Amino acid sequence: MPTLDAILPRLTDEMRADPDWGAVATYIPELAGVDPEQFGISVVLADGTCHSAGDCDTQFSVQSITKVFTLAIALGRSGDQLWERVGREPSGRAFNSIVQLEQEQGRPRNPFINAGAIVTTDEVLGTRAPRDALAEIVQFVRHAAGTDDIHINETVAASENAYGHRNYALAHFLASFGNLLNAPELTLGTYFHHCAIEMTTKQLAMAGRFLVDAPALPRMISPQRIRRLNALMMTCGHYDGSGDFAYRVGLPGKSGVGGGILAIVPNVASIAVWSPGLNRYGNSLKGTKALAILAREMSWSVF
Ligand code: DON
Repeated sequence: MPTLDAILPRLTDEMRADPDWGAVATYIPELAGVDPEQFGISVVLADGTCHSAGDCDTQFSVQSITKVFTLAIALGRSGDQLWERVGREPSGRAFNSIVQLEQEQGRPRNPFINAGAIVTTDEVLGTRAPRDALAEIVQFVRHAAGTDDIHINETVAASENAYGHRNYALAHFLASFGNLLNAPELTLGTYFHHCAIEMTTKQLAMAGRFLVDAPALPRMISPQRIRRLNALMMTCGHYDGSGDFAYRVGLPGKSGVGGGILAIVPNVASIAVWSPGLNRYGNSLKGTKALAILAREMSWSVF
């Protein structure tokens, strides 16, 4: 089998040669100005070694990928009680869709669509001040990644807040069903800020180590919870593109609208890929392509 150090540069060259970079998200104005023609990839193996290629040292907005970390924290704080407020089923809808929320009495389908992540953020917030909840989230991510050089981009958070009509609609809808503990602006302020965390692919692959379940990697949650988070990433991590991602890549993954994807090979590796241009589901176009190729070449699949 070829080594990662041979595959990753070749994969990066292949991705850079492909003229279709997809389109960056424009609904968060601060992200609309990102150059789409970037590609980086990092893989941390179960032995702890990190292998990278391309733009692997450029920090990008991880956006919805933080939903995995906030879910882990929410489950740590509330355990299975969380599932009274949010479901565990794929939605088959866009990440910011509102229709099911009315049909299903304000209980979001899963913790990775925006409505569900607003609920898990509200659970992490509890009765604390937003800055205390954010400090816990950032600390969790830094601890997972093994570095303190991970920060929230305040400009991105403010930009999303200024144009966050959809998320405000979702939060008010949740509140109308009694499924929000805090005022919508407090929970959303926390949510926008954790979505605005920035990481490189190296940092994100390192942060994903806690989901791999390997003896040499940091243990932050129980093996059972690792399996369950991976199951949710597989079934819901790419929204209405989750089936397509499972078919093409065959690994649990979580995407972000900044163009990042965190994918996990259980017991084997944590992979972070980034390319800002998106496909029609709002997931990284080249990130998905690259993961499909890498998984095939390494024979990585949960199936
Ligand atoms: O709430 C939002 O719309 C963004 N902060 C996160 C959305 C996102 O990353 C969707 N993922 N592909």
